[in-house]
Amino acid sequence: MSTTGPISLKPFNTFHIDESARVCIEIHRREDLLQLQTTRNQEPWYILGGGSNVLLTQPVHGLVVFNRLQGITCIREDETHVWIQAASGVIWHDLVMWCVERGYGGIENLALIPGTCGAAPIQNIGAYGVELTAVFHELEALDIQGGNIRLFSREDCRFGYRDSIFKQEAKGLYFIVSITLCLSKTPRVNTSYGGLQQVLQERGIAHPGIRDVADAVIAIRQSKLPDPAVTGNAGSFFKNPVVLNELAEALKRTYPDMPLFDAAQGVKIPAAWLIEQCGWKGYRSGDAGVHPKQALVLVNYGNAKGEAIFRLSEEIITSVQQRFNILLEREVNIW
Ligand code: EPU
Repeated sequence: MSTTGPISLKPFNTFHIDESARVCIEIHRREDLLQLQTTRNQEPWYILGGGSNVLLTQPVHGLVVFNRLQGITCIREDETHVWIQAASGVIWHDLVMWCVERGYGGIENLALIPGTCGAAPIQNIGAYGVELTAVFHELEALDIQGGNIRLFSREDCRFGYRDSIFKQEAKGLYFIVSITLCLSKTPRVNTSYGGLQQVLQERGIAHPGIRDVADAVIAIRQSKLPDPAVTGNAGSFFKNPVVLNELAEALKRTYPDMPLFDAAQGVKIPAAWLIEQCGWKGYRSGDAGVHPKQALVLVNYGNAKGEAIFRLSEEIITSVQQRFNILLEREVNIW
């Protein structure tokens, strides 16, 4: 465990926002974590893994905890499945490639999602037809105030679309230590997402394996989404709104081109479409902007303040609400 501060958090958030933190602590081993819990359990912890789902709008006055817990292990195996446990500080994409190399299927569609394994269950990451919940087995989490490590099953996590208990009543209460996924040794690939099928077809791959799927997903992401190493961003800034069938039908009558997707509790409308219709796609004011290829992604072209990106998100929310009467919800955490 090492303590530093005050430092600029610019290298530690993918939006590249230059805000500072007073005290930062790096956690490399479980013992570091337990020691930290005994000494600083009364302060709010600001946990940073990959820093890929946060927008900093002011200096952080609390304790910033850098999660560097490492290690991927197979903890159980039968004829058809493996149970893979990853420490929460492992980079998510590294876990995906580790599994693809060994032929373990289930998370290949989630290749190249930025962030750590510990962040993955918090928002139930999802892309190209697959959500984490499909392969999730359990996780270990430290109760920051109480000090005990608790197991959360899939049911306990109460996963929803970009949602879990850790964004609701358990928000800020736990430090996720490890996640365990149940993956298939005889994988069946999921190519239900249209764009994925198209790339595989273009590549002449009729019977894709998990590596083909991972490669295709990587290609799609690289063509549509800005690389955070080059242009500051945190992926989708907003969630796709789910509306009641009646509202979707009414909107469809006015906007016949509006794309709609079936969802668990209604109909999902792509937020990117709503934002694009309001004229924001490719918009730029100073260094804050809306990505020209994916309207759901807000970007920092250089030295934007978090406050400016936040204001832009407010303007977008207002215009979408005025035009469509739909309230967009942010996916990114605001600090
Ligand atoms: N669209 C537009 N304008 C755009 C982009 C998209 O109108 O600029 C419309 C198109 O009709 C398109 C539809 O939106 O068919 C859906 O677009 P896309 O497939 O790119 O996905 P998305 O709904 O915008 C979601 C996830 C992404 C994930 C993709 C692919 C959310 C909030 N975002 O985006 O996740 O990669 O699907 O599965 O659910 C992330 O969470 O950070 C993220 C990138």
